Amino acid sequence: MPVNIAIFASGAGSNAQKIIDHFRDNEKIKVALIVCNNPLAGVLQIAEREKVPSLLIERQRFVKGDAYLPELKAAGIDFIVLAGFLWKIPTALIDAYPQQIVNIHPALLPKFGGKGMYGQNVHEAVIAAGEKESGITIHYVDGHYDNGDIIFQAKCEVADDDTPHSLAQKIHLLEHQHFPVAIEEIIGKLKC
Ligand code: GAR
Repeated sequence: MPVNIAIFASGAGSNAQKIIDHFRDNEKIKVALIVCNNPLAGVLQIAEREKVPSLLIERQRFVKGDAYLPELKAAGIDFIVLAGFLWKIPTALIDAYPQQIVNIHPALLPKFGGKGMYGQNVHEAVIAAGEKESGITIHYVDGHYDNGDIIFQAKCEVADDDTPHSLAQKIHLLEHQHFPVAIEEIIGKLKC
């Protein structure tokens, strides 16, 4: 039986695409579900094209209800990857998947994390602060935004002429290069 991953995403889904590509022919790890909170998100088109089942979720039930655990269990989900997912993860889900939920953040945590720090907001803050480097952080998810134990970081230079847009492109490259491999390593260690 493969380890079944659910990818939670809210936006374009470029990371989701890279993760799907990485595990396409993998017999031990399978992307089994895309979970999305936004009916207009590009990641839903990726799911359709890639023939990965998707689940559109609604805030009240996710945050205050059963967190869609019945659907996740029915799909046999063993591990959850947050790839640009913008809602806080409720305790019910964290308790059901202890140390089995990871997130990617587009900066070097603990700097530039927390509520409201997502996507372009992060890159704008990094540039406004005059940082000379930024990067990515892959971390376990706990009940607070961007707070769980850090698993992996990679850095890039912030050049004097970088804009939030150009920095976002550098960060996406780093994410695409490292996130799928890191997921494979984390799951490999879980199974030992
Ligand atoms: C990624 O850069 C990811 O790090 C960021 O959203 C982007 C999603 O891009 N996540 C956060 O900011 C979470 N705090 P994608 O939809 O193309 O994968």
